[in-house]
Amino acid sequence: MSGGAERDPLTGHMTTGHEWNGIKELNTPVPRIVWFFLITTFLFSLFWWVLMPAWPLGHTYTKGLMGIDQRQMVADDLRRAAEKAPPWRAEVIRLDYADMQADPVLMEQVRRHGAVLFGDNCAACHGPGGTGGPGFPALAAGAWLWGGAPEVLAETIRVGINSDHPDTRVSQMPAFGRDQMLTRAELQTLSGYVVALSALEMPIEVAQGNGYALFAANCAACHGEDARGMVETGAPNLTDNVWIYGGDGETIFTTLFYGRQGHMPRWDQRLSDLDRKVLTLYVADMAEGGHGDR
Ligand code: HEC
Ligand code: HEC
Repeated sequence: MSGGAERDPLTGHMTTGHEWNGIKELNTPVPRIVWFFLITTFLFSLFWWVLMPAWPLGHTYTKGLMGIDQRQMVADDLRRAAEKAPPWRAEVIRLDYADMQADPVLMEQVRRHGAVLFGDNCAACHGPGGTGGPGFPALAAGAWLWGGAPEVLAETIRVGINSDHPDTRVSQMPAFGRDQMLTRAELQTLSGYVVALSALEMPIEVAQGNGYALFAANCAACHGEDARGMVETGAPNLTDNVWIYGGDGETIFTTLFYGRQGHMPRWDQRLSDLDRKVLTLYVADMAEGGHGDR
């Protein structure tokens, strides 16, 4: 390594003066355009610090000459939105369920906005229009597990079923086979019995076959003496033709063998009081004309 800086005849730039085995290094200056951008962005940042909120100072911060405050902007937006909110929303907050149901104009709004809320939040499980599907009850059928009065529906929607809400509704269909409470043969008898119950829609006394004693001993406590379900336990009516999991012998056997613990999310954290109120009425309304018996 030797020699001083010299001008390179090809590029016209100076060399650094370093040389390795005859290879010299050019001292290429930083292009002007780069300096230009560095300096302008630096000046812009100075200018922006002065105008905008920038530096934290313990409890406060440099507010900037323009006095921009995002929190205030959000608050203003919310206030403007509330002022623009249509009057029916205020009615929903003010009135109770019975008064709302008696008001056809308001119910028109409930149906319109409820349909959107239902589509966004509930239809993925309960099906469009509440038609249900395997594992998800058909809300439109009106065959309620926990009850179909608006106040009851509102509570189910608020806390969920087998959810992590402290007041959640708890739904436990025991696993009679897996947990060896009943034998396979007994479960087969019971499956046939449940199929017969619903297929014939007959009163349980008439259906007294082989399965009746087993049913009375193992099932009636939750499903009721008449097998028509109990809102206290969330156990479904087994005499109708509305099924959550399925009413064929095989599916019923699976239900009895492995049990069922349906999960319905809680909505208290995800939907506002107002939206839940609208949805409650929407669900109650879609079930009207259903063939539920509660
Ligand atoms: C992740 C799936 C899922 C979503 C989403 C969901 N549900 Fe449910 N829901 C269920 C299941 C499963 C059950 C039945 C639980 C059981 O089997 O005991 C249920 C039960 C219910 C019940 C009780 C019905 C009765 O017979 O008592 C109501 C009411 C209800 N859902 C309303 C809603 C509403 C309103 C929404 C939308 C805000 C919604 N659900 C969203 C899964 C869901
Ligand atoms: C501890 C209460 C409890 C007992 C005891 C019980 N069940 Fe259930 N059963 C339930 C609940 C709750 C459900 C709803 C489970 C769900 O949807 O996740 C259910 C669901 C079912 C279903 C599914 C219905 C459908 O719509 O798909 C059948 C069938 C059934 N039970 C039959 C029986 C029979 C038969 C017995 C007696 C051997 C029995 N259950 C005992 C609580 C009980």
